[in-house]
Amino acid sequence: MGYAAAIRWNHSLLALCMVVQLLVGELMDVPGAGEEASALGWLGVAWAHGAEGGMVKESWMFELHEALGLVVVALLLIRVLLAMTDLPGANWRHLVPWVFAAGRAQLAREIGSQMEGWKQGRLAPPEEGESVARSVHGLMLLSALLVGAAGVLLFFGWNEHGRQSEWIEMVGEFHEAMVGVLEFLLALHVLAVILHQRQGHDIVSRIKPGG
Ligand code: HEM
Repeated sequence: MGYAAAIRWNHSLLALCMVVQLLVGELMDVPGAGEEASALGWLGVAWAHGAEGGMVKESWMFELHEALGLVVVALLLIRVLLAMTDLPGANWRHLVPWVFAAGRAQLAREIGSQMEGWKQGRLAPPEEGESVARSVHGLMLLSALLVGAAGVLLFFGWNEHGRQSEWIEMVGEFHEAMVGVLEFLLALHVLAVILHQRQGHDIVSRIKPGG
């Protein structure tokens, strides 16, 4: 299965912006975060990206994180709109095979027949079933949307000058926890791409713009 041009472009921009965003997010200091900023008490400074022994006042990386976050959310919303179309590879049904009985049966078949290969680092070619890969794609988009939704709430609710309300700290915790899920899925995704390419399945040309 090939992907429509719109999906290919969306994916390239999303991959680029999201990888930069995740790196910036891990490295930045957050204005307003710090020991005093923690209304819940147990939110550590490092976890909240605060400065050692004090509160961060300004951070260009945080500004970049906010701007890039809005771009990523826009790209995700475009992907959601594309999921409502029947463009090749775009439809939402591709991303959630486990929602349908036939998809669940296919997933069980693939896991049953391919598990032994996975344990040895071998992936079956896409022709032998794509439900597992598609499920990972769907979960990546879903977790990215949840990260983005929490990010938008933080954009409006985070106090850059100090103490946070309890609910906004919880949103912050959720944002970080979902980033962990997304990073795990992204690592799986990239590992699968590398293994497929090494086995000569050339899946990259299916998603490359202009490919
Ligand atoms: C780090 C760089 C990345 C590389 C090298 C990469 C590579 C690929 C490749 C080769 C495919 C085609 C799979 C197939 O043949 O079915 C693909 C599909 C896909 N990737 Fe990535 N990817 C990357 C980052 C991301 C990111 C950050 C996301 C977003 C959360 C993402 C989400 C998806 C989705 C959803 C698909 C299926 C196409 C679609 O439905 O939009 N990828 N990726």
